[in-house]
Amino acid sequence: MRERTHGKGFATRAIHAGEGPDPVTHAHNTPIYATATFAFDTAADKEAAVDRALEWNPTSYFYSRTGNPTNRALEEKVASLEGAEDCVVSASGMAAVSATLFAHLRAGDHVVLGDELFAITKVLWEEDLPRREIGVTPVDMTDLAAVEAAITDRTRLVFLETSTNPRLRMPDLEAIAGLAHRRGLIVVADNTFLGPALLRPLEHGADIVLHAATKYLSGHGDAVSGVVSGAKRLMDPIRKQVDTFGQAASPFNSFLVLRGVRTLPLRSAAGSANAAALAAFLEGHEKVEWVRYPGLASHPDHAVAARLLGGRFGAMVTFKPRGGLDAMAAFTDHLALCDIAVSLGDVYTLVYPRPKDGGIIRVSVGCEDLDDLVDDFERGLSFVG
Ligand SMILES: Cc1ncc(COP(=O)(O)O)c(C=O)c1O
Repeated sequence: MRERTHGKGFATRAIHAGEGPDPVTHAHNTPIYATATFAFDTAADKEAAVDRALEWNPTSYFYSRTGNPTNRALEEKVASLEGAEDCVVSASGMAAVSATLFAHLRAGDHVVLGDELFAITKVLWEEDLPRREIGVTPVDMTDLAAVEAAITDRTRLVFLETSTNPRLRMPDLEAIAGLAHRRGLIVVADNTFLGPALLRPLEHGADIVLHAATKYLSGHGDAVSGVVSGAKRLMDPIRKQVDTFGQAASPFNSFLVLRGVRTLPLRSAAGSANAAALAAFLEGHEKVEWVRYPGLASHPDHAVAARLLGGRFGAMVTFKPRGGLDAMAAFTDHLALCDIAVSLGDVYTLVYPRPKDGGIIRVSVGCEDLDDLVDDFERGLSFVG
């Protein structure tokens, strides 16, 4: 087979990394290896493959809970995009979060984590970590002094979301990594809300980056999946945890996410441009009380966001229509194009009304034509008040 390259640029690697024509069949696209187990010519071959796999050689296959070629193609693609030595794919974003925390924390350890984390990650730190005698201190990650004060002699790990849910606060990752590393701590960044086309946390000091691949990496709302990337010495315990806790990814879902990642740079650019325009539109609207978008000068972390993200600020916007819960429902319930749904990162624009947060609305801006989105938001707002 002729020599091949995955290229150097981010967009080229999003398409080519981890993939190539099948050496046996010449199938151009990565196949879905729908197999539970792998067959060997001899007992000795089987033994060697199992031993290599359980020393966490990710391309030694014997059983698909431990390793599978479709899953591996996705791991290699994501590792390339993150600038990571290795990546572990898992059944969901929560599998990536829980495997990372349980692989690197044990009874008696302590973790400092963001005080505005994804709801199910919050359940993990409120219930599952304390149950395992792991101490937790939630802090506002945008308050460096608070982060520093929360670190104790037992602290092993700092866990943050690069853009918080739903208020889209952006911690200064570089500053947090600096102070954490002076104390020998592992910094874990959940970068789900931005994705690697916009921010690569390992380039800003994080040791581990993870995603609900369900969101921007997949991009089409058709798969639940998780990925975690970093140095191999940090990934091996996570790979073992994913295997032991049975959190393996489905090869079919990895196939869908592989397909999604190929267009990630295009979707991230389109979603960011739409979100910036929609945020500006909302900020100028009389029926809107406030808008939170990291690209707006009014955002409390705008300077940090500009430094970390450059000119593209992501596709998540949160806003509050004037008039409380009635206004929230009047807006969402009269949209004719955008759907009400809890997920994010899709090519479709999704709105997530949050009555328990006082009637704010989180918008995952998709890749539709901007004029159609503005028309739909105008329509929704016309029913407010
Ligand atoms: C920031 C963040 N992390 C993790 C997750 C969990 O991902 P999943 O739903 O794939 O388990 C989500 C899901 O919405 C999320 O928003």
